[in-house]
Amino acid sequence: MELQLLHTVAETIAWRDRAPRPLGLVPTMGYLHEGHLSLARRARQENASVAVSIFVNPTQFAPQEDLAAYPRDLKRDLAMLDGERVDMVFNPGVEELYPPGFETSVSPGPIASRLEGERRPVHFRGVATVVTKLFTILRPDRAYFGQKDGQQVRVIQRLNDDLNLGVGIVVCPTVREPDGLAMSSRNVYLNPQERQAALVLYRALCLAQERYHRGERDAGRLRLAMEELIGREPLARLDYVSVADQRTLEELERVVRPAMVSLAVRIGKTRLIDNLLLGEG
Ligand code: PAJ
Repeated sequence: MELQLLHTVAETIAWRDRAPRPLGLVPTMGYLHEGHLSLARRARQENASVAVSIFVNPTQFAPQEDLAAYPRDLKRDLAMLDGERVDMVFNPGVEELYPPGFETSVSPGPIASRLEGERRPVHFRGVATVVTKLFTILRPDRAYFGQKDGQQVRVIQRLNDDLNLGVGIVVCPTVREPDGLAMSSRNVYLNPQERQAALVLYRALCLAQERYHRGERDAGRLRLAMEELIGREPLARLDYVSVADQRTLEELERVVRPAMVSLAVRIGKTRLIDNLLLGEG
């Protein structure tokens, strides 16, 4: 079967009604890399039909953020997805998902107001709204998300439970470059010196993990060790480090429950995020 490219909601609903089940959905903003492809691959293994959405969602960007500059290359994306035997790509225009008069949104709770939500106040409302729309248009049996965006995963799991959307949420591991940098569409913004400096995120996470494995349970000391390491990289400006409860994302004093260590760092003009899980399963 050839990859189908659909631009309208109506065509996509018609496709979804005929698609063999189970149907797996991979929501993306395009400019795909191995991280996205790992989601598509997993979806291909587990489902009879696979849909990928490519939509740079304006409602999750604040006015001063990089919406206009966000990298795009649909032709390349389609070739990559064809290689993964994806069945359908949904690539709507902005007016297709947000026609004139659109005014309803999905507002997540406190889980979305910490960490990224504190720095990007409209971000998760935009994510929750577009993901709800995609789930409603495609009615997938499963949807695939990356642990790379750790808070996004928690927000979507809550949304799916709270609104009884009934989608199986599958969380896939973070795919990294050989040197540890988490793959991200935003890595293309980095010049060679910045690319080198960006390694500080993964190094800080590994330092916290190593201390944890050696028995450190004081979350404050773990945060401090990461802050110091990042402070030594001249091109890096720390936004936050967090050691939080994996489920609620509330900051921990002691790491006695499964935790997510996460951070946001500015390297030049580029804001990067990353995380690792501690005490999993
Ligand atoms: P985007 O940043 O394009 O990411 C799409 C999906 O790919 C997300 O689930 C993200 O966590 C995952 N992903 C990105 N980099 C990854 C990596 N290095 N390893 C594993 N998975 C990775 O996240 C979004 O788009 C949007 O917010 C979206 C959910 C599509 C809503 O607009």
